[in-house]
Amino acid sequence: MPVQRTIFGRPVVLHMPPRRFQILFAFIIFLLTTIILFSGPENVKEKVEEATEKILEGIPASIHNPFAASSHKPPVQDNSTSGESSWFSDWKWRHPFSSSVTFDENRSVLPPLKNRPYVYTYYESKNKKDNAALDAEEKLLLIWRRAWWAQGFRPVVLVPADAMNNPLYEKLQILKTQEFPDALEYDISRWLAWGHMGTGVLANWLALPMAPYDDKLLSFLRRGEYPGVIRYDGLQNSLFCGESGAINDLLTSTLDKSNDLIAAMSVIDAADKSKYTSDPQHDAIALYDLKSIRANYKAVDETLTREGGQAEGLVMLGALINAHLHIVWQNTFSAGIAVVKALRHMTTVLEPAMHIAKSLQKCSPSPVANSCPPNRKCQPCEAHEIEIRELSTYKNQSNLFVISAVPHPYTAATLDNWKPSIDIPFIRRESARDPWLFAVTKELLGPAVSSQSRIVHFKDAVAGEHGASHSLWLTAERETHKDLNWIFGFDLPALPEPPPTNTTAAEDEASTESADVPLLDEEIRPGEPKEREIKQERQMLKAARAALRSRSGKMMRLKGAVEMWNLADTEAWKFTRAFSARRRVERLRWEEEEKKFAGAEKGRGAKWW
Ligand SMILES: *[C@@H]1O[C@H](CO)[C@@H](O)[C@H](O)[C@H]1NC(C)=O
Ligand SMILES: *[C@@H]1O[C@H](CO)[C@@H](O)[C@H](O)[C@H]1NC(C)=O
Ligand SMILES: *[C@@H]1O[C@H](CO)[C@@H](O)[C@H](O)[C@H]1NC(C)=O
Ligand SMILES: *[C@@H]1O[C@H](CO)[C@@H](O)[C@H](O)[C@H]1NC(C)=O
Repeated sequence: MPVQRTIFGRPVVLHMPPRRFQILFAFIIFLLTTIILFSGPENVKEKVEEATEKILEGIPASIHNPFAASSHKPPVQDNSTSGESSWFSDWKWRHPFSSSVTFDENRSVLPPLKNRPYVYTYYESKNKKDNAALDAEEKLLLIWRRAWWAQGFRPVVLVPADAMNNPLYEKLQILKTQEFPDALEYDISRWLAWGHMGTGVLANWLALPMAPYDDKLLSFLRRGEYPGVIRYDGLQNSLFCGESGAINDLLTSTLDKSNDLIAAMSVIDAADKSKYTSDPQHDAIALYDLKSIRANYKAVDETLTREGGQAEGLVMLGALINAHLHIVWQNTFSAGIAVVKALRHMTTVLEPAMHIAKSLQKCSPSPVANSCPPNRKCQPCEAHEIEIRELSTYKNQSNLFVISAVPHPYTAATLDNWKPSIDIPFIRRESARDPWLFAVTKELLGPAVSSQSRIVHFKDAVAGEHGASHSLWLTAERETHKDLNWIFGFDLPALPEPPPTNTTAAEDEASTESADVPLLDEEIRPGEPKEREIKQERQMLKAARAALRSRSGKMMRLKGAVEMWNLADTEAWKFTRAFSARRRVERLRWEEEEKKFAGAEKGRGAKWW
């Protein structure tokens, strides 16, 4: 029977810590006592800090994190790594610190991947021999897929083989024993293909989403739950959504009515009214059928209908659609683009962000200048250039698009303090904790909020439902930014390349980790940073990137100390890196699955025509 100890009358059971901790504690107490006994009062604090630092550097990692050895890590999910970053998709993503969920400092917790409902289109290239025209149609399919992908869908191009896989295909064969129009066969085939695939949206490949991300119809379609079959009026039967059972039910009953079908020339018009509902109230979908091209875009129509002008006309149509997707984006963000530069000396860090902003601000080349998409009024780009603003803090405003780059705390420390080489004592004594996160959430949360709370709001701004469609967060250390046209849903206008980040050989030598870059003014004065300062900033950024890649023991310790000092800034950086890596992996994986089919990014795949 152990001795019962009590505190304020309540029994407590004392567990002795494991032996290695006992030794460690004894050692620390001994060290601190020695220091206090043998030094004057004014330098006690400094000595204690130094001693603690030595102890922390000396102890093995398993004591650092007492949970690491004993608890289970969550299982590694499929496709959850890319380069150095890895992630775990889970509902607990709003937890301030990922490592308390994953027990792995390198694995970030991201929100669960959003379910992308299927949007199908049916494409067959019968009776077309012209290769140039086929290529142009492929390009249009790619534009169609990208636009729907950016709006949160999973676009799939269906082919005649999909129609044949539907058990109801036999009924089409029976119908075809009589006099039977091609257009009707095409319409029935796409319904059969859709019925074979099941629940989802069926769209013409010239029907594109052109509306803000949070538009009512798009939000409804994104939910992926459809009551029966819904038809959208005013779109020439170019958009439906439906649930698997209801689609095939409608088909079964309609395919028996051959006279009605031939009279109506379309499945939906021959179908019994009780089999579907109609929605007349929507304006999110732009349809580029011949009628609307003829009515609104003369130049495209003239080329398309000219003898031998089909391919050229389709290329023009592609450019027109791309320009309209861009205009709708610009109109959605009428307050413009904010490039957030939270700390000092971040001009070079933000160069890629600024480059993207300028490209978004430009007008996409269009064959019909000053035109709007067929589904909505707009402010043409040529008449109204959107503004780029440089802000020092994040703003949450629904008509403002935010682009920024998150620096690793080491990069932030060298640049913000204008010190090319920093060391551990400098970090501990002279630098503030989490300066970047504080600055970026300054306006959103005010000055009196903890880092823990800031990081949660930051994660929401990066990855939340609203945040992800209103902002783009890069990391300062990555030099290339891919997939932008899948994130925005259109080809961004090309700009002249940004100035090369290469420096001359002499400068290269000066920018190694230990070299001292001669300092200019300690403080940068307000106003345009000068040419020389930019040059120096570029050099320091390059050195920071190299330092973070370095595997030398000294550098790894310094990096570790900076990360420990700036836990929230580090978390923000890792989270951003993982979020953008996952976005790319999700897309590449999808592209991998679809690459055999028409409209894939890699050009024409299967030879099914
Ligand atoms: C995290 O990554 C760093 C660098 O990539 C590596 O040195 C470290 O061992 C990793 N930590 C864990 C717990 O895997
Ligand atoms: C921004 O505002 C929207 C509502 O307008 C809100 O849903 C979202 O959570 C806010 N984001 C942040 C980071 O506060
Ligand atoms: C820039 O650097 C890359 C590799 O670091 C090199 O291949 C390229 O030639 C350099 N470009 C210039 C203009 O010096
Ligand atoms: C995703 O994971 C699967 C197997 O789990 C693998 O075959 C595929 O190559 C991965 N894709 C990417 C893009 O990493």
